[in-house]
Amino acid sequence: MFVNFSKILDFSSNKRAIPAFNTINLETTQGIIAGALKAQAPIIIQTSENVINYAGLSTIYNIIKTQIEDNSEDVAMTLHLDHGKSIEVVKKAIDIGYPSVHMDASAFPIEDNIKMTREACLYAHEKGAMCQGELGSILGKEGLIKMQQGEDINKIMTNPEQIEEFVAKTEIDTLAISIGNIHGFFVADNGLDLERLKKIHEKIKIPIVLHGGSGIPEDQIKEAIAGGIRIINIDTNLRIAFRDGLKESFNLNSDLIDPRKILQPAKEAISEKVIDMINQFTI
Ligand code: G3H
Ligand code: ZN
Repeated sequence: MFVNFSKILDFSSNKRAIPAFNTINLETTQGIIAGALKAQAPIIIQTSENVINYAGLSTIYNIIKTQIEDNSEDVAMTLHLDHGKSIEVVKKAIDIGYPSVHMDASAFPIEDNIKMTREACLYAHEKGAMCQGELGSILGKEGLIKMQQGEDINKIMTNPEQIEEFVAKTEIDTLAISIGNIHGFFVADNGLDLERLKKIHEKIKIPIVLHGGSGIPEDQIKEAIAGGIRIINIDTNLRIAFRDGLKESFNLNSDLIDPRKILQPAKEAISEKVIDMINQFTI
């Protein structure tokens, strides 16, 4: 069942975070939906700006939307734009029908971040969509390397003192934070900064989003959910599952030439990883 974003949020609590799974194509999307169906659990399926550049906005939007409409039965699923880096791409996603968008202006100084995020949110709200903002920077692989070279992660983590102003001025519906979460199969050396999460959670009522969900130990994930995290983004874990499924395919039968048969184990590996993540995100 394709639902709007606020309906999905209704399923979240201090005992359950909703997984937001990144997809790049039909097969990943099919694997994600199959896993959520088996687990009978609500999910978000999301695409980054890079995927829009890779597949085309209309193509990827319609693949996900129709796959959800045709195959999700009565399990609630929705669609979200992840890491929209420009106001233009965010507006295009809203125009085509994304129920929720992420305006990621976290690389800019806070005044510009507020300005861009506010513009995105007002546009989204006018069209009945929801809008995520990001305060603090979430490192990727390159960032991790910087950290290992001595850069202080505390400097780029979300500052709890800026939260109330950011939320009030931007009118965001959900907030992505940086508390030691890192994109890729990583977490900061000291793990998640749960004290910082506590301070953030005390200041705002809107749902808090944890990016970089792959590679975070399950006990920390569960503590983060108890501490206020309501959505957790997962990408790398699915990429690894897809790759491992493909390897299995060729190991089992290297003469395969039908792409549907070659890709089947990859879809199944994704579906199993989705079930695993759903279980990890439930206390
Ligand atoms: O926005 C996407 C995510 O934050 C995914 O992070 O690749 O570490 O799971 P991940
Ligand atoms: Zn992310």
